[in-house]
Formats: sequence, structure tokens, C-alpha cells
Amino acid sequence: MADPATAFYAHPTAVLDAGCRVGAGSRIWHFCHLAAGAVLGEDCSLGQNVFVADGVTLGRNVKVQNNVSLYSGVVCEDDVFLGPSVVFTNVKNPRSAVPRRGEGHYLTTHLEQGVSIGANATVVCGIRLGRYAFVGAGSVVTRDVPAHALVYGNPARQRGWLSAHGEKLTFDAAGQASCPATGQRYQLSPDNKTVSIMSEQVSSLTANS
Ligand SMILES: CC(C)(COP(=O)(O)OP(=O)(O)OC[C@H]1O[C@@H](n2cnc3c(N)ncnc32)[C@H](O)[C@@H]1OP(=O)(O)O)[C@@H](O)C(=O)NCCC(=O)NCCS
Repeated sequence: MADPATAFYAHPTAVLDAGCRVGAGSRIWHFCHLAAGAVLGEDCSLGQNVFVADGVTLGRNVKVQNNVSLYSGVVCEDDVFLGPSVVFTNVKNPRSAVPRRGEGHYLTTHLEQGVSIGANATVVCGIRLGRYAFVGAGSVVTRDVPAHALVYGNPARQRGWLSAHGEKLTFDAAGQASCPATGQRYQLSPDNKTVSIMSEQVSSLTANS
């Protein structure tokens, strides 16, 4: 049951360091650890054994599956989905004998609204994933990913485009496509490098699990 005083739920085995902030409606499951400067928005879900470091910010409705460590430098906007055992990094050239801890050493990894990352993928630090980008399971992401791009493999390469609903987009000769699920319209740029939304969704998005 959610604690009415705080309006979020944390399993008794979770460790919430003094100073962390958790939004109303969030659920924090077994063996999680939130460091002092961690900030979770409303309605987030942290599966078993999730670590959220000092300075990490999660927006609203961010879903994190089991065994994910969000290290300092990671930013997740609203509606981000992180599959089980996704791996983040925050130092590009770590050496045990060279101290590279703290501000000034950690690179930012920024996940814009609606990004999904598949199970067991690794995200090398210092990159940005655009809105609704999708990373396939087991991928190694080493470069920025455009909004709505589907990438997978090692190194992750772009294989297509996905709608905000997670459906494949097939563009016609005019560079336009509709989401098969919602009817939302998308435009591919003439250089085939970016996708933008032409119209709002026709039917409402359903909550993901
Ligand atoms: C990336 C993904 C969305 C692709 O789905 P899809 O477009 O339906 O892909 P298909 O199954 O048609 O596969 C197309 C090709 O890509 C390959 N492929 C698919 N996913 C891949 C991945 N993650 N890594 C490497 N190759 C992949 C397939 O083997 C296939 O190759 P082939 O044509 O040589 O046989 C899906 O495979 C995936 O990884 N989803 C994430 C699931 C997940 O982690 N969920 C977490 C919550 S449970």
C-alpha cells in the first residue's frame, strides 16, 4: 500500500537515502537504492535491484525494469522505458589508478521523452537519444540516435523508424507515413535523416506495462 504521507510506495528492502525525491504514485520494488540527490517524477516504476545515483533525474512515468543502474550523468525525460539489465556508463576512458570521480568527469547521457531501450543493451556515455527513439535488445549504442529511429546491433545502426506508439513507419514517395495503431501522421525529411510529427494522434496512446 502506498504511504499516504508520501503518496509513493517503496518496498521495505529498498534504501532511500535522505534527500532523494520521489514523485507521487511512484513504485519502488525490492532491493532498490536511491542516492541522496536522485529525483524521480510522478508515477515512475523501479523494478527489483535498481540503483539511481546522485544527480540522476527521471521524469514522469519512467519505467525501469530489473537490474538497471542509472549512474550520475543520466537524464530520462517523461515516459522513458528501460528494459531489464540495461547498462549505462558515465566515464568514457576509466582507469582504476586515475581518479575520474565527481562533477567534471561524468558525461551526460540524455534520453528524451518516450525513448525505449531493450533488454541488456549498453549505452555508451555522452550521447543523446531523441524523442521516441527505440534501441533493440542487446545493442551497444555509441552515437546519438535521432527521434523515432529504431536502432539495434553492435554497434547499433539505424534499421527503421517507429511511431510514438512503437509501430513501424513506412514512408510513401512524399515521405509521409501513418502510425498503423493511432493514425498519427509523420513526415520524413528530404535527406531521410529526421522524422517529425505532422498531426496529433488520432486515438489515445495506451499505457505500456
Ligand atoms: C529491435 C526489435 C524491436 C526489432 O523487431 P522487428 O523489427 O520485429 O525485427 P524482426 O524480428 O523482424 O527482425 C528483423 C531482423 O533483425 C534482427 N534483429 C531483431 N532484433 C535484433 C536485435 N535486438 N539485435 C540484433 N538483431 C536483431 C533479426 O534477427 C532479423 O534478422 P534477419 O532478417 O537476418 O533474420 C526487437 O527485436 C527488439 O529487440 N525488441 C526489444 C525487446 C525488449 O528488450 N523488451 C524489453 C521489455 S520485455
